[in-house]
Amino acid sequence: MTTTVPEYDTWSGLWWQRRGPFSTLRWIARARAEHIPPAARADAVLLDVACGGGLLHPFIAGKGYRHVGVDVSTKSAEVALRHGVDEVVIADINDIPLDDACADVVVAGHCLEHVERPLDVVAECCRLLRPGGTLIIDTIADTLLARLAVITLGENIPVTWAAPKGTHDHRLFIAPRTLADACAAHGVPVDVFGLVPSTRDLIAWSLRRGDDVRMRRARSTGILYGVSGVKPVP
Ligand SMILES: C[S@@+](CC[C@H](N)C(=O)[O-])C[C@H]1O[C@@H](n2cnc3c(N)ncnc32)[C@H](O)[C@@H]1O
Repeated sequence: MTTTVPEYDTWSGLWWQRRGPFSTLRWIARARAEHIPPAARADAVLLDVACGGGLLHPFIAGKGYRHVGVDVSTKSAEVALRHGVDEVVIADINDIPLDDACADVVVAGHCLEHVERPLDVVAECCRLLRPGGTLIIDTIADTLLARLAVITLGENIPVTWAAPKGTHDHRLFIAPRTLADACAAHGVPVDVFGLVPSTRDLIAWSLRRGDDVRMRRARSTGILYGVSGVKPVP
């Protein structure tokens, strides 16, 4: 196993804190869900690679999927199950013990930056996706700006919602083109999009006048970005 953050078990009580250190993950999960179409068939499976505490669940509930997570943190998996995720497979995301083409949607939210072989995880995501299914991956760009925003500022700003110190290792951040090329090489052509917080929401949130922050799609992929695409049907 190659995670740089074995602490996720000890942080498992933080997943659903409204203004806690995983708040930004909740904002990103909401944006991620916007790419997920309603299930096109009965028994459709949404595979949530590195599901953590299941923050995606409320945003996809009602779309008709069986929500299956994969994560190495057993305590986070317990939290995910308590918050509506149907099943969690405890496994390393570099080597997921599930059949080829088992999922109608594969999402991998903010996990590539925690593994030393992120492109192997991309290969796994593409393998597990069925033809016609949707792939969504989001992560952090390998730029100086991202390092400043996510580590220097994001882990040190004196607010309750700063990420725990040491969460990120900038050497694991990935260029958008590298990620998109890896998806294409494994049979899923994708579009790249930037993700930025709504300035208005962020100010309101910082002043404790807002309950959440919407992330909007942006051309700039300098800090947070995602890729999404559909696996072609042969
Ligand atoms: C930043 S959290 C993202 C969680 C979730 N996808 C979200 O966006 O809310 C990273 C997650 O990756 C998991 N993780 C890190 N390395 C892993 C590995 N090698 N195999 C399985 N899970 C891993 C951690 O346990 C944690 O739950």
